[in-house]
Amino acid sequence: MKLKLKIWRQKNNSTKGKIANYDIDNISPDMSFLEMMDILNEQLLEKGEDPVAFDHDCREGICGMCSMFINGKAHGPDKLVTTCQLHMRKFKDGDTITIEPFRANSFPVVKDLVVDRSAFDRVQQAGGFISVNTSGNTQDANAIPINKQDADNAFDAATCIGCGACVASCKNASAMLFVSAKVSQFSLLPQGKVEATERVLNMVKQMDEEGFGNCTNTGSCEVECPKGISLENIARMNREYLKAKAIK
Ligand code: SF4
Ligand code: FES
Repeated sequence: MKLKLKIWRQKNNSTKGKIANYDIDNISPDMSFLEMMDILNEQLLEKGEDPVAFDHDCREGICGMCSMFINGKAHGPDKLVTTCQLHMRKFKDGDTITIEPFRANSFPVVKDLVVDRSAFDRVQQAGGFISVNTSGNTQDANAIPINKQDADNAFDAATCIGCGACVASCKNASAMLFVSAKVSQFSLLPQGKVEATERVLNMVKQMDEEGFGNCTNTGSCEVECPKGISLENIARMNREYLKAKAIK
């Protein structure tokens, strides 16, 4: 395949960025999108040019690092896959592909396609955990009966990989799908009930302090989420929040 690439290049957060054009040839449809980017970078290095900076780690769809906006969609044209799991067979010979970083004020550009998503880490640190007694008296998890539907819903919420596609595809740059997944994975389980009140209040407070927008129910986050995280989690987080506010 022969392709035209239009890629956002930006030296750092204090300089202006712009789209740069690259031609690339001999791309196999069986390559992953990131392998195609690797080939481009090898060619740039051979010419003595600066390679395109992009985030990646597991390349297996589980770490959430490979954030890219491809042809106007977070993680590209395929459904329920991350950029690293996207294959070149989803494009046609001669296509032009536009590649940009995930854009949101709370995700400042570090370089080219790399954005700083540490705002998500700080939201997690504000409450995305449970405190477990490790003194040796810990109750066996299997000794606590859990309704099957609750267990399934908690597991589905826990599959959020923190990629940030929900923020990047939302016109409000809202992080509510991410935060609600992190709240839901605990609020549905007995282990998460102990700290439930503090958790939802602290995580929502941190989310607001990081400058993420509010949800207006457009649903683009759910459509673009590579893990199919449901909007129902946002409704659950809102209920948890109102309950917590009534107590505090
Ligand atoms: S909710 Fe989906 S899109 Fe948002 S961070 Fe989690 S996995 Fe990524
Ligand atoms: S590189 Fe880990 S999810 Fe894509």
